[in-house]
Amino acid sequence: MTRLLLGVTLERICKAVLLLCLLHFVIIMILYFDVYAQHLDFFSRFNGRNSSRAQSSNSSRPNGTAPSCGLASADPASSANRSGTEKPLPLCQEVPPGLVGRLLIEFNSPMSMERVQRENPDVQEGGKYVPPDCQPRQKVAILIPFRHREHHLRYWLHYMHPILRRQKVAYGIYIINQYGEDTFNRAKLLNVGFLEALKDEDDYDCFIFSDVDLVPMDDRNLYRCYEQPRHFASAMDKFSFRLPYAGYFGGVSGLSRSQFLKINGFPNEYWGWGGEDDDIFNRISLNGMKVSRPSGHIGRYRMIKHERDKHNEPNPQRFTKIQNTKVTMKRDGISSLQYQLVEVTRWPMYTNITVDIGKPPSRPARG
Ligand SMILES: *[C@@H]1O[C@H](CO)[C@@H](O)[C@H](O)[C@H]1NC(C)=O
Ligand SMILES: *[C@@H]1O[C@H](CO)[C@@H](O)[C@H](O)[C@H]1NC(C)=O
Ligand SMILES: *[C@@H]1O[C@H](CO)[C@@H](O)[C@H](O)[C@H]1NC(C)=O
Ligand SMILES: *[C@@H]1O[C@H](CO)[C@@H](O)[C@H](O)[C@H]1NC(C)=O
Ligand SMILES: *[C@@H]1O[C@H](CO)[C@@H](O)[C@H](O)[C@H]1NC(C)=O
Repeated sequence: MTRLLLGVTLERICKAVLLLCLLHFVIIMILYFDVYAQHLDFFSRFNGRNSSRAQSSNSSRPNGTAPSCGLASADPASSANRSGTEKPLPLCQEVPPGLVGRLLIEFNSPMSMERVQRENPDVQEGGKYVPPDCQPRQKVAILIPFRHREHHLRYWLHYMHPILRRQKVAYGIYIINQYGEDTFNRAKLLNVGFLEALKDEDDYDCFIFSDVDLVPMDDRNLYRCYEQPRHFASAMDKFSFRLPYAGYFGGVSGLSRSQFLKINGFPNEYWGWGGEDDDIFNRISLNGMKVSRPSGHIGRYRMIKHERDKHNEPNPQRFTKIQNTKVTMKRDGISSLQYQLVEVTRWPMYTNITVDIGKPPSRPARG
């Protein structure tokens, strides 16, 4: 009885030893082939994983760094070039290193579109640009409400393209050209610009709204979006480099995509000059946001002097309208926008979006 039990136990031990031997053999074989693969160069040539193996046999490699297992190898010297253009660019620095600070801005020397083009050869068709040496943190659509100001546009492009390039963002320039000769409507044109820019490229995450006659005097005034809606033109020459009043939001401003949608975009019902920027300021405050600005010495702007445009007379209703923003902003905005697209043309330095936005509703004459 005990003898039988001993026999069974012995048999089990033998089986276990045999299994261990088999396992040992397999492991040895795997190790053997790995070493074999590393030492015989020709083997790696048929291996598909060509370059790293071939180079690991280079005698100039420092001792003691030989790869233990081909896959994990690749020192910087040999991988730098191999991965070449596939290697992701570093993120652009928060504060771009190539800024120059205060700029001399003047509008006396004649300016031609040919010259602007010649001086900005790396701007792509439609006025688009992407930094070649780093990965931009934001993609910015710059929207300019426009009519009959070709002369100003040339100066604006001449100054802005080099500034924006130094600021290391991806950007596109869009002029939103009001079709016809009816009363101008800046805010409605900007609403159109928001939608049309996104139709052009759906990954814009920042929108900057600039008048065509305003050029910053300092490139540290970074054209991008911030935690809060941004007012860039905090010190314009025509206001003696001061804010005309605390709630001023005119000239150049910027909102991220979500900030813009949160306030239902801009009002569509401000025809003629004035008021729409105050309405936008109200929308921002009423939605619990706060306007941010650059400091006075960085937010300086030059304005190109001009006569007031025809069909952009001061809007007499503007003072009463801005008192009703809280009521009107829900129904009047990007959600209620209507317009007819007339034409989109991509020029070398900008994209021209011409749009028919209609005319102000006729109202009974007041007696
Ligand atoms: C292996 O390297 C040679 C030259 O080093 C190259 O011509 C060949 O295309 C490479 N083959 C593979 C599979 O990478
Ligand atoms: C080894 O590397 C050096 C420099 O990295 C290079 O000049 C040399 O041609 C390489 N030799 C072989 C056999 O790849
Ligand atoms: C690498 O090893 C060789 C021979 O083993 C030796 O002659 C050489 O000096 C060593 N090089 C380094 C950098 O240690
Ligand atoms: C490899 O690197 C050299 C110098 O760093 C560079 O001139 C060359 O263009 C690179 N080649 C590729 C394919 O990236
Ligand atoms: C934009 O396009 C419209 C319609 O073709 C044209 O009348 C206008 O002159 C263009 N403006 C600019 C600045 O390109």
